[in-house]
Amino acid sequence: MDAILKHPLKLRCVACHAEYDPLEVRYRCDCGDLLDVVHDLDALRTLDLRALWDQRWGSRRFPDDSGVWRYRELILPVEESRIVSRMEGNTRLYPAGKAGDYAGIEHLLLKHEGENPTASFKDRGMTCGITAARLMGATKVACASTGNTSASMASYASVAGMEGIIFIPEGKIAYGKLSQALAYGGKTLQIEGDFDVAMELVQEVCAKLDIYLLNSINPFRIEGQKAIAFELLQQLDWQPPDWIVLPGGNLGNNSAIAKGLAELYDLGIVRKKPRLAVIQAEGANPLYRMWANKTPFEAVREADTIATAIKIGNPVSWQKSLRGLEWSNGVVEQVTEQEIMDAKAWVDASGIGAEPASCCSIAGAKKLREQGVIAAGDRVVGILTGHLLKDPDAVVDYHTDNLGNRHIASTFANRPIQIPATLEAVEKALGA
Ligand code: F0G
Repeated sequence: MDAILKHPLKLRCVACHAEYDPLEVRYRCDCGDLLDVVHDLDALRTLDLRALWDQRWGSRRFPDDSGVWRYRELILPVEESRIVSRMEGNTRLYPAGKAGDYAGIEHLLLKHEGENPTASFKDRGMTCGITAARLMGATKVACASTGNTSASMASYASVAGMEGIIFIPEGKIAYGKLSQALAYGGKTLQIEGDFDVAMELVQEVCAKLDIYLLNSINPFRIEGQKAIAFELLQQLDWQPPDWIVLPGGNLGNNSAIAKGLAELYDLGIVRKKPRLAVIQAEGANPLYRMWANKTPFEAVREADTIATAIKIGNPVSWQKSLRGLEWSNGVVEQVTEQEIMDAKAWVDASGIGAEPASCCSIAGAKKLREQGVIAAGDRVVGILTGHLLKDPDAVVDYHTDNLGNRHIASTFANRPIQIPATLEAVEKALGA
């Protein structure tokens, strides 16, 4: 791959530091641990990256118009003609409005990654992963998914002219996401088992059938995902917030954001480390358990949460995640089903909206503020990872008091009002 890379890269094991050629298709070290893409930061130090990236901001020229490839020197410094992109990223950073009042945080901004081409943050990692797939000559790609990765992969595989093969836990992914996988033409295998079972299986299948694996175990997925941090900081004029709060499932996203921040810090592009807060659902909380109890990693069996995106008991990136938490002096918190859905009601009612897993960010930020971990006056950015319309069932069930089976009360319900088709009935309903 070196000849087509503008700067040399290496793959390096997170545990034993063994190094590999980036052209080699491999996702783990011989010792079994995960790999990082390592950039030559000394070579990059000679460039004024901040000026270069600022100059590209708002450009209409490909690939500077992508909120991932704008930062390509520190993502995948590849020849432009090789890039597979849907001009992902460029997502908005909103004042949190009513959701900020609900969380009790004055300076709360929400970065809406649901505004990506397939409506989740996964597109940032996927554009990089599929570009790597093309560099390696892959014609078939696969992933296991709770829904968003598969939607994204199906779309990018189609754009790249590859076959996308999807492993999803049967009956356990939100409808919006299943619709996308089918619509974009992904070969969709509904596995009789949960995400953790599907994740094991897809690794076995990819090794046996020579299919390129596009889960976040793939180090190039992580590289693309870092662009959330880069773009967020650029939107803040390179002044880091005090906190970045985000949900944790398979733990790729927080690992990526921490890696990106650490590289920017090493390069002197930012001079402060934001603290990361990773929020897990109580029923799918292996990182929280480990972090709070200071115990070794142990998978959670039969993970369960209404936030199906993060219904994961055996996350692949827990080691990378811990490394990032340590670097950023971060914290891990868990939230209940009720807290997730109530926070969601406020994110939605603020006019912004997001899927349940995303709203862990706000539920978690509220909890950390109440505990005093987030101080009054701290500048906080919450990441909204997926669009409201990914999971319309969760919305309608909440607002129509239909979540009793999960012991979730519809505390902030906006109930639809059924009336006869008469003027009087409308006047009565409106209290006119
Ligand atoms: N939020 C949403 C909306 C997600 O889809 C995911 C993960 C996460 C948060 C958690 O991010 O895994 O990097 O810690 N979804 C994956 C999928 C697992 O298959 O779409 P993470």
